Parts: sequence; C-alpha cells; structure tokens
Amino acid sequence: AHRPAIRRALIDWFEGVRDKRGMPWRKRYDAGLSAEGKSQRAYEVWVSEIMLQQTQVATVIPYYNRWMSKFPTIRDLASASIDEVNALWKGLGYYSRASRLLLGSQKVLSSPSRLLPTTAKSMEAEIPGIGRYSAGAICSIAYAEPVPVLDGNVNRLMSRFLALHAQPKAKATLDVLWAGAGAMVDISDTDAVIDLTNTDPVIDVDADTDPVDADTPSENRDLPNPGDINQALIELGSTVCKPTDPQCSICPLRPWCAAYNQSHSSSADSTSEF
Ligand code: ADE
Repeated sequence: AHRPAIRRALIDWFEGVRDKRGMPWRKRYDAGLSAEGKSQRAYEVWVSEIMLQQTQVATVIPYYNRWMSKFPTIRDLASASIDEVNALWKGLGYYSRASRLLLGSQKVLSSPSRLLPTTAKSMEAEIPGIGRYSAGAICSIAYAEPVPVLDGNVNRLMSRFLALHAQPKAKATLDVLWAGAGAMVDISDTDAVIDLTNTDPVIDVDADTDPVDADTPSENRDLPNPGDINQALIELGSTVCKPTDPQCSICPLRPWCAAYNQSHSSSADSTSEF
C-alpha cells in the first residue's frame, strides 16, 4: 500500500507554514484527550471557524482571544446574555453568527452529555449554525474525523486541481468538489485514485500513476491527520491558490494539478486523476 504523495506533499508544505500566522486556535491534534477535552477543543475550533466565515485571519485573532478569555468554555458561553455576546462581537459584523454560537452552546448544555456532538453528521444535525463546512472543519481538526471541508478557498483550489469547467453553483459541480475534498481526507483508502472524467467518483487502485512517488512503502510514514489536511487545503487556497495571480511556482500540488498541466503541458500527459 502507498500513502499518496499528494497528501504528503500537502502536509509537508503545511508543516512549514502552520505556525507562521500565529493563529491561537491552531493547536495540534491530541489523540489522548478525554471526552471533555475533545469537546473543549471542538468548542475552540467552532468559535474560530464561525469568526473566520466572513472575516480575515488577522482581524479575527484579537476577537478570538477576547472571546476565549471571557467565555473559556462552552458552559461559560451558555450562561451569557446576548448583549454580552454582541458586545464581544462588535466590529466583526454579521451578528447572527454570534447569536447562533450562543444558541448552539445552550443547546449543548441542555443535552444529556453537555458535550458537543462527536461526529460531523450529528453536529450538523443538532447544532444551529453548524453546516456541512463548519462540522467538517470542527470534527476533522478537533476529533481527526476524516470528513472534508469545502469553503470558498478549497472550492477554488479543487476546481483548478481537477480542471473542472462546470457551472460553479450547480449541485452536480458541488458534488464533484465535495467528493474531491473527501478523497483528500480519505485516509482509510490510501491508494484511492479518483477518475474525475466521471462525475460519479470511481475509486481505483493505481499507485503507479503517481508522478512523484510510485513505490515508497507506507510503513515508513505517519498517518496523515484529516484536520491537518483540511487546514492545509484552506491555507493553500487562501495564500497560494489565490483567486487572481495564483502562485503555482511554489505550490506543493502543482505536479498533480490538472489546470496547471493543461496550460503548461504540450503533450497529452496531463491528468485529471488523483
Ligand atoms: N479559515 C477558516 N478556517 C481556517 C483555519 N482553520 N485556518 C486558517 N484559516 C481558516
């Protein structure tokens, strides 16, 4: 079995940049945490992800730090008033995000476990304001659950990576992009190659199609962490695979990027598979 070189290139790149922007919520996954500890991590990631939804990282950092000193746990948040919450949100905009955080925390505190749900599926179903993206981000980062994220950054990156020329908002397009993002975190099948000439992703074991790394044994490598993979994709999308002027020359995914290969290859060896 082979761990895909794509994932390793992505993770290796992320290791070099993960601490550079000083994000206080970006802690390493700790498999040894108790159920309470895991829920606490999920709460921290939840707050960061909601703040980051419409606001840039540099703006969010001081807000996040003030929030965490005022509401260090979900229990502290649940007993707050909407006025206290809104006061901490002042300047961030989109105040419904804050009220949904408050409502969500109260829902959790009225549940039997008083802990956040332990899977992305249940989190999305049970917590107001947590949709597929947030549930994926929270559960992959806090629980290492292999669930994908598709925000605007990953959407753009994936569209290029797959050279997907399709209606950007069509459900079929989003299905393909979610499937592509899902394959990135699918660490259960480390030889997965998705044939994206078919909109129905077909899993095919064919490690030799890998342009960089066909036969290094996986035994020598760490298992990739889904939370790291997702954060790497978000970071790569926002800092390298930018909307305009993407920095392909420094992109770790360039060898496999279908859009790059289509525009830089004269031969027929460009690939839309990974
Ligand atoms: N934007 C949304 N989630 C993020 C994360 N985990 N790291 C950096 N930027 C983000």
